[in-house]
Amino acid sequence: MDAATALALLLEQSMTPPTSPRPTFEHHLQRDWRNAALVDDVRRGLGRHPRRLSPRWLYDSRGSELFDEITRLPEYYPTEAERSILHERAGEIAARSGADTLIELGSGTSDKTRTLLDAFTATGQLQRFVPFDVSEQTLRDAAEELRARYPGLAVHGVVGDFTLHLAHLPTDGRPMVAFLGSTIGNLYVEERRAFLHNLAANLPVGASLLLGVDLVKSLDRLVAAYNDSQGVTARFTLNLLDVLNRELGADFDTASFDHVAFWDPVHERMDLRLRVNDGQVVDIPGADMRLELNDGEEIRVEISTKFRLPRIVDELAEAGFAVQHTWTDAAGDVALLLADVVGRSAVTGSASAAAG
Ligand code: AVJ
Repeated sequence: MDAATALALLLEQSMTPPTSPRPTFEHHLQRDWRNAALVDDVRRGLGRHPRRLSPRWLYDSRGSELFDEITRLPEYYPTEAERSILHERAGEIAARSGADTLIELGSGTSDKTRTLLDAFTATGQLQRFVPFDVSEQTLRDAAEELRARYPGLAVHGVVGDFTLHLAHLPTDGRPMVAFLGSTIGNLYVEERRAFLHNLAANLPVGASLLLGVDLVKSLDRLVAAYNDSQGVTARFTLNLLDVLNRELGADFDTASFDHVAFWDPVHERMDLRLRVNDGQVVDIPGADMRLELNDGEEIRVEISTKFRLPRIVDELAEAGFAVQHTWTDAAGDVALLLADVVGRSAVTGSASAAAG
């Protein structure tokens, strides 16, 4: 290049305000992952008794909109309760964790992400934000928005499934993994144990976990939260049948199903099902399946486990996390736990000592 061009370039560089680095992404899901996993889940889950499907299929675009509506219902306390804790305690959480990398499992577009990022950037400790989600579009949208709001923050999106791809979490620096919104309540006991063990095993000692859980409370409030008077939760679960009809060419007669949500006192969880009034034979060509449903038969579409603090603290210890601090909202409805990775052997001893 000639001198004039070089000078122009130099001037341009020196005059450009510091901008955020471009967000980067890594992918761990195959192209047809969603369809393959859906077919697999339908074949296994609908072929067994009691019939059940993974709650992940509830969140197509319509389902995500409906869930958003759920979070604003008067009966649905968890979102607001967790938000209030985060609002009050984000600074303390940032300081206690000492993290320089914030990893968020699940949606990265929510305002709780911003509350955390505000606090972590305010202390000047945050180098990097790593949203982890199955939806690449969700991550791209989030990254764009965050780039504008937090200049200088590196954003690295990981497209993956938190039950399969935890080995791809970044382990350099001091990470804090945020797993909020009581999403952990969706997992069955064995899945929860596997998830927590996996998470601890894939993080360096000294990393931390910020876990949001919903707590056991009075039966009427729990039942009301999943049987709201406006019927939004019913539309949310029934939408699953539209997903199956659309994505697998199934012919569920949606109108003949009811939303059913009850408290399971043995497992201490809400159990959400779709119940067919009159039996029907359903063709599901995409899964190469024909389903014969009897009158009143049910398909479980979600569980929402409610926790007691000592139990989840124990489960965390068993997986290799030592709980450092716990916060609850004023009403004691939900809790946030901050736990440090201490390694398996280190906690087994202290946990059994505490128990014994
Ligand atoms: C997003 C899994 C936390 O279990 O409360 C809300 C989902 N389902 N109403 C929950 C849900 C019906 C929610 N989580």
